[in-house]
Amino acid sequence: MTRKDRLFPKDFLWGAATAAHQVEGNTHNQWTVWELENARSLANQAHGYLGEYAGWDDVTPEAGKPQNYISGTATDHYNRYEEDFDLLERMNMNAYRFSIEWSRVEPEEGAWNAEAINHYKQYLKELRKRNIEPMVTLFHFTLPVWFAEMGGFERRANIKYFTRFAEKVVRELGADMRYIITINEPEVYTACSYIMEMWPPAERNFFRAWRVMNNLAMAHNRTAKIIHGMNRRYKVSIAKHSLRVYPGDKAVLSRASAKVAQYFADDYFLKKVVKNCDFLGVNYYQSIRLFGYSMHNIEQPRNDLNWPMQPGDIESVLVRLYQAYKLPIIITENGLADGEDAHRRWWIEETMKGLRGAMDRGVDLRGYMHWSLTDNFEWSFGKWPRFGLAAVDYKTGKRTLRPSAVWYGKVIKKLRDL
Ligand code: BGC
Repeated sequence: MTRKDRLFPKDFLWGAATAAHQVEGNTHNQWTVWELENARSLANQAHGYLGEYAGWDDVTPEAGKPQNYISGTATDHYNRYEEDFDLLERMNMNAYRFSIEWSRVEPEEGAWNAEAINHYKQYLKELRKRNIEPMVTLFHFTLPVWFAEMGGFERRANIKYFTRFAEKVVRELGADMRYIITINEPEVYTACSYIMEMWPPAERNFFRAWRVMNNLAMAHNRTAKIIHGMNRRYKVSIAKHSLRVYPGDKAVLSRASAKVAQYFADDYFLKKVVKNCDFLGVNYYQSIRLFGYSMHNIEQPRNDLNWPMQPGDIESVLVRLYQAYKLPIIITENGLADGEDAHRRWWIEETMKGLRGAMDRGVDLRGYMHWSLTDNFEWSFGKWPRFGLAAVDYKTGKRTLRPSAVWYGKVIKKLRDL
């Protein structure tokens, strides 16, 4: 069978993704501080956020408790990572995306923590031992407290601290690294932190948001150049949150506003960094439908966070991004909150059809990382949304692959053995 006849190339990266703060436990960064200060108000607001949602009664017991909003020991992945790597193997995966927690590696400005560096060294070695390709994220929404206190990415002069951290990581751990994501979802970070008041520093300041976006683009460009200067074998990108934005009707206004929204959702940032990307990391979760200026998604079914589910739309997202930027693509995140595992198998099936469809239309697709390997701390929603291929019992730490994950693992094996 030739490479072309296969449904997916033999070396396709089949993996899952996580981020340090969401799973490791006992982190100390700007998020930890903020959670502790805001857990109570987040619990009080939960009904406002989710009251309209049909599943509210099911989640009330957890979503209404302040404890839900504190990451605490999370899934204790920092100590139990080998167990989590076993899950990857059980699902026949050959790739894993995770983030290195800056606040562990550099807890005080300029002071490197040898123990943390050693931890990540062992972590990477363990993945290599299992023939699992690591994909390392350097910034996944969390900042050391000292960096946040000096203004974080709001100040252009602070970018040097991030590039210094990146350089240190690559110098210390680079032997086992190849794929590097500098920044996860720069525009989501900016919008949630500086416009929507959802994440620290929970502001509503458009000017600052714009500045942070531009500084993040500069941070990526500088970091990529440094890493490439160290060795060209590193494959560097960002993880771009990508939406499909489409007009809900044929009205000129709906079509025009969909175009403008799509530009700001994707292209504004991508155009600034694409020259310094070896591939494009794409995170896809949902589509946005516009009637005139207003967003109104009528699609069903909904996931546990009340997000409409249109997994097949990933095909048009990939085709659009590939045609616009002509870079190989790796899906760096894609998934759903589904505690009952009622939709996950269907979601993955539809997604795979979309991936295959995109490849048939010429997209150079190299991999797919499902979000997430295990249940985890879902930022301002806390621990109740369940994104994991494996369920986590937060009391005992026990991991259990959900039925969809067992099925998915068999599919991956079949595709590889074809
Ligand atoms: C983020 C993850 C998050 C996921 C689900 C992405 O925006 O990168 O950290 O958990 O979406 O909301």
